[in-house]
Amino acid sequence: MNSQDRKSIHGIWKGRWTFILAAAGSAVGLGNIWKFPYMAGEYGGGAFVLIYLICILLIGVPIMVAEILIGRRGRNSPANSMAYLAKEANTHPHWKFLGVMGAVAGLLILSFYSVAAGWAFAYIFEGFNGTSAEYYNLEFNNFLKDELKLISFHSIFILATVFIVARGVIKGLEVWLNRLMPLLFLIVILLAIYATQTGAFLEGVNYLFSADFSKIKPSVILAALGQAFFTLSLGMGAIMAYGAYMPAGQKIGSTALSVAFLDTLVAILAGIAIFPIVFANNLEAAAGPGLVFVTLPWAFVNMPLGLIFGKLFFVLLSIAALSSAISLLEPGVAWVVESLKTKRYIAAGALGLIAWTLGILSALSFNLLSDFTPIGDRNFFDSMDFLSNQILLPLGGIFIAIFVGWVMKRENVLEELEMNEGWVLKVWYFLLKFLSPVLVGVVFVAAVFFGVT
Ligand code: PFF
Repeated sequence: MNSQDRKSIHGIWKGRWTFILAAAGSAVGLGNIWKFPYMAGEYGGGAFVLIYLICILLIGVPIMVAEILIGRRGRNSPANSMAYLAKEANTHPHWKFLGVMGAVAGLLILSFYSVAAGWAFAYIFEGFNGTSAEYYNLEFNNFLKDELKLISFHSIFILATVFIVARGVIKGLEVWLNRLMPLLFLIVILLAIYATQTGAFLEGVNYLFSADFSKIKPSVILAALGQAFFTLSLGMGAIMAYGAYMPAGQKIGSTALSVAFLDTLVAILAGIAIFPIVFANNLEAAAGPGLVFVTLPWAFVNMPLGLIFGKLFFVLLSIAALSSAISLLEPGVAWVVESLKTKRYIAAGALGLIAWTLGILSALSFNLLSDFTPIGDRNFFDSMDFLSNQILLPLGGIFIAIFVGWVMKRENVLEELEMNEGWVLKVWYFLLKFLSPVLVGVVFVAAVFFGVT
């Protein structure tokens, strides 16, 4: 039975654009606006950007197609969609674990993601009137030491996420994503225009796009691949969960390309907005995670209309984080609703509470619990990041590629994609069956066993 005949009990989105907005909402997040610019800065600009783009196209898009396909054909939460498709392929029902692992990874990511999103939210209330770059360094460090403040903003963020997910697929997700995403795109574009007017525009753009090939090292390739994966929300079922709500008849291949395009566009626009501002103020491009919270506020202090645009920037970051957080919670909530037949708001509340509790440990890892290092010498926040992004997401991605590439029947895949045999399909199958599992596997082994990140 294909997705024409099956319906999701959670609802199917009505809007033609909703799936693209929702998947782009999941993809565009802290990863684009906070992580991408600072990684590009740390790894030397253009060389990193080029490899990142290649990874998005050759590995990200094919796996995204696979995830949407599983979700839409299964028409259930990732766990139950996997179970359904395993049955359809006459194979072992244990494939369900892939969806379960995804739901767990979603909660783990949500727990620390929400703490970082809380920083963005807190910075909306910044006055942008500091007196030196050092001032902002100190301010950020003091903020990280303030347990109560960190936990408060983390709590507000989780509450907002739970509220939207609890309202349901149509009244919560569809309504809110249709409101938030256009606003997000508008702000990114405004900020990029602002950067062209006030910043060292050409220097910034040059930095992002001129590739110095001597800077390409294994660690850069690994970082770019990991980031491509994280930024597209792949490997944990977020896109799969959304696939279940995608109307039948919408083409999966071109939709995945559009989502990847939008995600990349926002990352690049964020870079175009940030680097010219950084260079115009003679600040350090390779400032690391502090780029957005330390370097940028100081730059805004020194610019015309800096207060307004500074606030706008952090509104943007908060919206982007919220639309991603929704997709981290949804796979688990859909699964609990299906399995336990509970009301959605109870499932959302209960899973939100779990993520909130774990998140407290992340918030405390910058102060009270800074000596608690569960994985290697990483604090709790970094351990959660490592466990989910370096272990669970790549593992999920490999299995998804293997399942669709090797386990599902080709005729069913073709039917769901609404495609015929041809070179596009051949290329996609090749990327999915061979390239993705091998490359992602290499990254996984390098990161986990050799510590290359
Ligand atoms: N793609 C999001 C970002 O770039 O910030 C993060 C993310 C969301 C990862 C949802 C995984 C996920 F399932």
